[in-house]
Amino acid sequence: MIATQALTRTFHVGDATVHALDAVDLEVHPGEFVAVMGPSGSGKSTLMNILGCLDTPDAGEYRLLDEAVSELDDESLSRIRNAHIGFVFQSFHLLPRMSALENTLLPLRYAESEPEGARERAHELLAKLGLGDRLDHRPNQLSGGQRQRVAIARALVSTPPLLLADEPTGNLDSRTSDEIMQLFTGLNAEGQTIVMVTHEDEIAAYASRVIHMRDGKIERDHVKAA
Ligand SMILES: Nc1ncnc2c1ncn2[C@@H]1O[C@H](COP(=O)(O)OP(=O)(O)OP(=O)(O)O)[C@@H](O)[C@H]1O
Ligand SMILES: [Mg+2]
Repeated sequence: MIATQALTRTFHVGDATVHALDAVDLEVHPGEFVAVMGPSGSGKSTLMNILGCLDTPDAGEYRLLDEAVSELDDESLSRIRNAHIGFVFQSFHLLPRMSALENTLLPLRYAESEPEGARERAHELLAKLGLGDRLDHRPNQLSGGQRQRVAIARALVSTPPLLLADEPTGNLDSRTSDEIMQLFTGLNAEGQTIVMVTHEDEIAAYASRVIHMRDGKIERDHVKAA
């Protein structure tokens, strides 16, 4: 699903040069559940942003579902993003004036007209995530865990083959974090490919493969025995 070759991203701030990603080779296959760990500043979010087509590499190649993403312009990138990727962030990124249902439908609103069955799909997803009785609640009327579940429903509403999550439990208590991870485990059991950044061993333990980054490089890559 994902194949990168010598993926490189360098930032220049003043006189300083930061090698946020330093020639990263990474393959992720359909159905994997990957946790990305590593110290602060090691390049985890930079990697996720490029994998999620929110940013582009300075050098190297990124192929997503056999398409050479690293060569595309912004417009094509957003097309790929909408079609293939769901993104969940640490801080939920929900629109405050919209209900849970409307937030979930957002990715589909950018289409010319709302795809047929979109509302049913959003409704079903929210119900599956335990929010069937919270459809009309706005984010400030929901708990942190409920907000993150709305964000997950939004990420999945267009049935993207790839779910990316950058510290999805970073703002949640440990019980709510476990609930979200049980949700991810269930989605993965149904075939959803997931790449997730986390700082916590207990969260990474839910994944079937753990990658450790350091200084913009992959330092360790461990697939757990089934
Ligand atoms: N837009 C940017 N401009 C300049 N430097 C950046 C930018 N984004 C990231 N960096 C630098 O690149 C390096 C990697 O940052 P990144 O956000 O990927 O780290 P991270 O592993 O996600 O860290 P954290 O665990 O704290 O979220 C850092 O040294 C950071 O300062
Ligand atoms: Mg980060």
